Amino acid sequence: MKGIVLAGGDGTRLFPLTLATSKQLLAIYNKPMVYYPLSVLMLAGIRDILIISTPSAVPIMRSLLGDGSKLGLNLSYAVQDEPRGIAEAFLIGADHIGGDSSALILGDNVFHGAGFPELLRRTRDTLDGCTLFGYSVADPERYGIGEVDAEGMLVSIEEKPARPRSNNAITGLYFYDEQAVEIARGLTPSARGELEITDLNLAYLRQGRAKLVELSGAFNWFDCGTHDSLLAASQFVQFIEKHQGERVGYLEEIALRMGFIDAEACYQLGAGMRQSNYGRYLTEIAYALD
Ligand code: TTP
Repeated sequence: MKGIVLAGGDGTRLFPLTLATSKQLLAIYNKPMVYYPLSVLMLAGIRDILIISTPSAVPIMRSLLGDGSKLGLNLSYAVQDEPRGIAEAFLIGADHIGGDSSALILGDNVFHGAGFPELLRRTRDTLDGCTLFGYSVADPERYGIGEVDAEGMLVSIEEKPARPRSNNAITGLYFYDEQAVEIARGLTPSARGELEITDLNLAYLRQGRAKLVELSGAFNWFDCGTHDSLLAASQFVQFIEKHQGERVGYLEEIALRMGFIDAEACYQLGAGMRQSNYGRYLTEIAYALD
């Protein structure tokens, strides 16, 4: 399975923060935002990952993450020169996917919850068609909302409905079988000129092969698109790390736990940043986890 982090867009709701930099490079507490979605793909066991971003952000992403070899990953980069829709990731990423199945995650999505790594692995192993993840929100009229039958199969998706049939917002993490590129190639741009991810998902829904997994109450999901959600995500990560002693989005630790790198490699990556709590933490756990 191949991975894509889609980290483009104009981030206009975050102006002036995003006038001169990319949203996905802003901080969520102690690390760049893009660490969080990348960590989700790594937890799903995906090592071959394409990062798609804006022309100005791709060089910065590349200097931040490199070719991924330090994390035992194979990272590549591509430009989306205008935000022409989330489903365009499958046209830009067609060669990268190369007939394989894929997982797409939006670069501003933060997920955290007990059992998430197992859920990701199970999703990957049992994928048939597409699997999306729903999260109960207080303001469903702002999201794409999914309705499921008793088996958890999607029966409808409504974009920003005035009268929502459920509170189940469709989050920015999507697993697809090997048909996604072909379906995306056949999509017609919407009135706003975008290739809509909802249209791709509806194609799977019509085949009866779109599943929506509801992320339960003990789960947290943020899309960090507004000033308030950016701060809320930072405060959440700070709380989890300082009060509960758990860590979120430590790429080197995840690479070690997943067996992508060894303890010495993790230790050395931490030692290179030992002036920060982030780096010191890596040096402390590297051999303890081994
Ligand atoms: P949005 O929040 O819809 O767009 P945005 O981030 O540009 O924000 P704003 O509305 O404030 O201008 O996009 C959700 C995520 O998907 C975000 O991480 C950017 C990404 N995205 C792309 O990379 N390319 C695209 O064409 C679109 C539509 C979104």
